[in-house]
Formats: sequence, C-alpha cells, structure tokens
Amino acid sequence: MTSAVERREQLKEVWQEARTCTKCPLSETRQTVVFGAGNADADLMFVGEAPGANEDRGGLPFIGQAGRLLDRLLEEVGLERGDVFIANVLKCRPPNNRDPRPTEIETCRDYLHRQVELIEPKVICTLGNFSTKLLRDDPTGISKVHGNPEVVVLGRRAVTILPIYHPAAALYTPSMLDTLRADFAQLPDLLAAPLPPQPAPEVFEPVPEVEPEPEPEAEDSPEVAHTPEEPPAAAAAEEPEPDVHQDQLGLF
Ligand code: URA
Repeated sequence: MTSAVERREQLKEVWQEARTCTKCPLSETRQTVVFGAGNADADLMFVGEAPGANEDRGGLPFIGQAGRLLDRLLEEVGLERGDVFIANVLKCRPPNNRDPRPTEIETCRDYLHRQVELIEPKVICTLGNFSTKLLRDDPTGISKVHGNPEVVVLGRRAVTILPIYHPAAALYTPSMLDTLRADFAQLPDLLAAPLPPQPAPEVFEPVPEVEPEPEPEAEDSPEVAHTPEEPPAAAAAEEPEPDVHQDQLGLF
C-alpha cells in the first residue's frame, strides 16, 4: 500500500520524465509538454484529447475557452479544479490541432496509465472520442456511449469511466450544452458510490540472489573511484539549472 504522499512524489517523477520526452515527433513541434494538473490524490480525473495552442504555451491543460466551460460545469456539480486531476491522451500539441495519430496515442499511453495508477481515481470522465476510445479500448464513438458509466480495468486499477462529449463540442453546438450538463449531473452519485472491486494484486516470484563477481584489483588509487550512487565531485558541485516550469504540474 503506497501513501498519498509517496504517490504524489512518484507522479512528480513521471512528470520529470515526460517533460523532456522525445519518444515521438510531436516533441519537435511542441513548446511545452502538458503533463496534466490538479489534485494528485483526486477521486475524479478528466482525460481530454491533446493540448491546444493555449495549453502548449502555458503548460497546463484546458486553459482556453473549452477549459472555462469545463470549470463552469464543474462548479455546477459543486466541484473545482483543486478537487480533480485533468490530463490528456497526448501530452504534446499536434501541429495545427490536427487529430492525434494512432502511433502518437500508443507512444503516449504509458504516461496516462501511470498517472491513473498513481492518482488512484474512482471515476474517470473521458472527454470526447479519443480518450473514450482509448480508455474503453473500443472503437465505439462518443455519441453512442456518452452518459453511460462502466467499470474498466486500466493497468492495475479498476475505475468507473463516464464518457462525455468534449466541452469544445458545446462551443460549436450550443444545444450540446444540455447533454453535457445532464451527463455531468451523474458525477456526484458516481463519486459517492463505493470503489469498484479491484483486481487481485500481482504476485511476484522472488528472484534468486546472485553472488556478485569479485571486483578486479584497481591499479589506480582507490580514492578517486566513485560508486554509481556517488556522483563525481564536479557533477555534485554543479548548481542545478533554474526550473522555469516548477509550477507547471500545478499540483494541489
Ligand atoms: N482540448 C483538450 O482536449 N485538451 C486540452 O488540454 C485543451 C483543449
């Protein structure tokens, strides 16, 4: 059992890894990796599609018009950003906001799964087609499944998924707002329900201990050698780079 504090620290480690990610070509066109932000111990997570221009500049998810609508919908069910964690399927903006490509989704998927495992949400609201298809592991589109909660297993975590339309859809089709509101209205009851039964923890086979090979005698003076845990003195003395994106994770 890992404590909330430990999980938060591990989430920061995943962020440190993601923020310099070059696993796909989006790293060549992005300005900032938008890892996600919010409460690292949230019961409710939102998963959108990918950062847009505002998010790419600001480093935080949903900070444009669609984000303002998301804030309003949250407020209407008595929640605020500090209560939830918001992430995206892709952590980097696709050029000109084009649709995420299957290879990009596949490459980025591990970050999202690790976020879910560490935040341990009870409910995940998928916003729009891309996150709904990914997290349901099914190609059925959002118009057929929105508003229908279901339990899925992601990594080692069973969660309730509530697919809803992407808030940007309501910016273009105002009648969609009523549908979004109706789907959002299910959230308080879903959050109050018990956690779905969790998969049995994996049982790890103990790895037999192997005797280390004896080190060959060093010819040079042993005082200059350093173990892998001890950084060379020059590296240890270096000032750390100032962290301009320290607030980017926006953890509450
Ligand atoms: N749309 C998304 O799907 N994600 C964002 O972060 C912003 C807009």
